[in-house]
Amino acid sequence: MKKIIVAIDGFSSTGKSTLAKQLAKQLGYVYVDTGAMYRAVALFAMQNNCIGVDFLDKGKLVDSLPFIKLNFKFNPELGFAEMYLNDVNVETEIRTLEVSNYVSKVAEISEVRAKLVEQQQEMGKEKGIIMDGRDIGTVVFPKAELKIFMTAGADTRAQRRFDELQAKGDAVTYEEVLKNVVDRDYVDTHREDSPLVMAEDAIEIDNSYLNRKEQFDVVLELINDVIEAE
Ligand code: DC
Repeated sequence: MKKIIVAIDGFSSTGKSTLAKQLAKQLGYVYVDTGAMYRAVALFAMQNNCIGVDFLDKGKLVDSLPFIKLNFKFNPELGFAEMYLNDVNVETEIRTLEVSNYVSKVAEISEVRAKLVEQQQEMGKEKGIIMDGRDIGTVVFPKAELKIFMTAGADTRAQRRFDELQAKGDAVTYEEVLKNVVDRDYVDTHREDSPLVMAEDAIEIDNSYLNRKEQFDVVLELINDVIEAE
């Protein structure tokens, strides 16, 4: 059966990764969470004094890019690939609210984007891939066979993210999480390089009122239709 590229873009906390992981498992495709790559670069920037509460040393971060090695390693117990930064598993560390607060600033830097986009395009060479992010259908794979754009209201997304962080034991308030979601939406949609926009040929899915199963069924049907038509 012909393998395709599925690009899933959309706002933060729209459940892109959950959906993409389920679809990849069902289809036997590779799943790539590009947000994890930007988060790992943000973590590197935090660990190496390139970013802090009131500063961003862009030059230092750009000069350090050759020393940032990003890899995904499949964890058979979890059923998905975890993010490694310079051979250290950072899957848990990159999901904190602190990293979320810095990541959009790091993702604005063109040199960072160029490095990560190149690596992402390399990963998609063989097709059979589901990649989620903000610029997958517009920049990374403008010719992807299927493009999905996911949206949901900011309060719905903040509530989901708040529940997730609370379940992990993170001491955060709903207001902090909502502010992070709204601020990231703004930076992601207003940055100069590769802003978050829906590709003209993407299919929009507002999942405010769809549960995970309904959303999975809708997108799986779209994928199967495209594969059959190929
Ligand atoms: O999907 P996420 O919330 O883990 O992504 C973290 C941040 O990384 C997000 O605020 C914007 C940025 N990002 C990006 O600019 N381009 C991508 N392809 C993926 C993520």
